[in-house]
Amino acid sequence: MIKKLKILGFVVALSFIYILNYATLKTSISKCLPLIKNSEQFYAEINGQKYPKIIPSFFNASINFDCLNSNLNKPKLILLWNEYGPWVDWKYGLGKYEPFQKRKCPVYNCEITKDKTRLDESDLVLVHMRGDYSKLPLKRSYKTRMVFLITESPIHSKEFHPHLNGLFNQTATFNLDSDYSPFYYSNIGFKWELNEQFDETRNYLEGKTKLAAILATNCHAHSKRIEYIQEMQKYSNQIDILGGCGKSCNISGENRFLSKLCREKISKEYKFLLAFENSMCKDYITEKLFDTLVFDIVPVVLGYGPYDQFIPRSAYINALDFKSPQHLVEYLIYLEKNSTAYNEYFKWKKYIKKTDNEYKQFCDMCIKLNLENFYGIQKSQVNDLETFWGYKKNCLTPQIENGIFNFIPINYTHKCTIC
Ligand SMILES: *[C@@H]1O[C@H](CO)[C@@H](O)[C@H](O)[C@H]1NC(C)=O
Ligand SMILES: *[C@@H]1O[C@H](CO)[C@@H](O)[C@H](O)[C@H]1NC(C)=O
Ligand SMILES: *[C@@H]1O[C@H](CO)[C@@H](O)[C@H](O)[C@H]1NC(C)=O
Ligand SMILES: *[C@@H]1O[C@H](CO)[C@@H](O)[C@H](O)[C@H]1NC(C)=O
Ligand SMILES: *[C@@H]1O[C@H](CO)[C@@H](O)[C@H](O)[C@H]1NC(C)=O
Repeated sequence: MIKKLKILGFVVALSFIYILNYATLKTSISKCLPLIKNSEQFYAEINGQKYPKIIPSFFNASINFDCLNSNLNKPKLILLWNEYGPWVDWKYGLGKYEPFQKRKCPVYNCEITKDKTRLDESDLVLVHMRGDYSKLPLKRSYKTRMVFLITESPIHSKEFHPHLNGLFNQTATFNLDSDYSPFYYSNIGFKWELNEQFDETRNYLEGKTKLAAILATNCHAHSKRIEYIQEMQKYSNQIDILGGCGKSCNISGENRFLSKLCREKISKEYKFLLAFENSMCKDYITEKLFDTLVFDIVPVVLGYGPYDQFIPRSAYINALDFKSPQHLVEYLIYLEKNSTAYNEYFKWKKYIKKTDNEYKQFCDMCIKLNLENFYGIQKSQVNDLETFWGYKKNCLTPQIENGIFNFIPINYTHKCTIC
């Protein structure tokens, strides 16, 4: 009898704890609404198009960030499964709240860990697909979603065996189809907003003496961008290659900021910055463009991404619009002689304002995970990695003939050199 009573007491106590927990969870959630009614998102109308077209969650005016932070006793857990280059913490920082607060994420109710024994508690398991992914956890709870994460292009990735199909729940890449804010776009240093300080009368050619430069470290890029620029150099001696495979930028500073400082310096001396990608792959647009946009220089892009999804057509020059590198140079020389036409490339900047450019892809994850307290977890599975990431399906290769570069589908086996 005593034993039975004890058990009953235990059960009652347990139910009580359960109800209490449930009640606190319920009340802390129902105290606020996750979405703000009648919120105003800023949009600019540029040549009949509305920008921004893509709004990362951390800039989404209708999300009630304070409400998402109100459940601080239950931070969402993100487990970093393997290594990301030499950085144990993936350059992000481990721990509760702080990695997100430090990066000015409006929602910080999250924790980052490397502790694999916490697998079952984890909401996301981030697997870096250029690291060791040979011992992935096959058994895990429903809420523990495994994320295929990579920042390089398919050309610089391994080929992923079909046995990986169905194993991942989500992807975090630069690809617009991924579940989280595109990697390089998550790092933009501006926000769409009316900029009253914008000077419409300024002549951006002033003080600039040279035509164009690229800042690049990889000289043997699959896209043959250096060969493309060498072809351009035949038609102008004012085009420079700076960085690892060219001239030094002659700046000193902390390593992390070197490329930004160099871009800033280039923007003062050159009229055009060549944002040429190392690979011609679907959606692959990198810091080459995004880190350039905050400076007073016109980007010339070479890549296979949907540029006009991010910035208006009037904000950049696309090398693929020209028959050859020679024709591109002729147009750049036309622009440097016509300040009206050159300055038109800056008009869109009336609608952007500089912000911090902390890496915020994890911030997007934190916001989306906390929204799940209200909307639940969506079931998802990545079933066709070949279509999503195969280089033959997603990338182009250059075919060069008489100074003309054509980018065509890949019909050979590409050996990844920097996987
Ligand atoms: C903002 O986030 C909410 C909630 O996720 C979403 O429904 C809405 O479409 C987003 N708004 C924009 C403009 O992306
Ligand atoms: C860096 O300095 C060297 C030597 O003074 C000079 O030749 C080179 O052009 C400079 N590079 C840049 C980008 O200014
Ligand atoms: C200079 O550019 C403006 C704006 O694109 C154009 O209207 C004008 O005709 C150009 N002038 C010359 C001399 O090409
Ligand atoms: C995640 O993927 C696994 C298969 O690898 C699946 O069993 C599980 O239901 C998925 N979870 C969610 C939340 O979609
Ligand atoms: C790939 O296509 C190119 C151009 O169409 C052709 O010249 C080449 O022979 C093809 N290579 C293979 C391995 O099929």
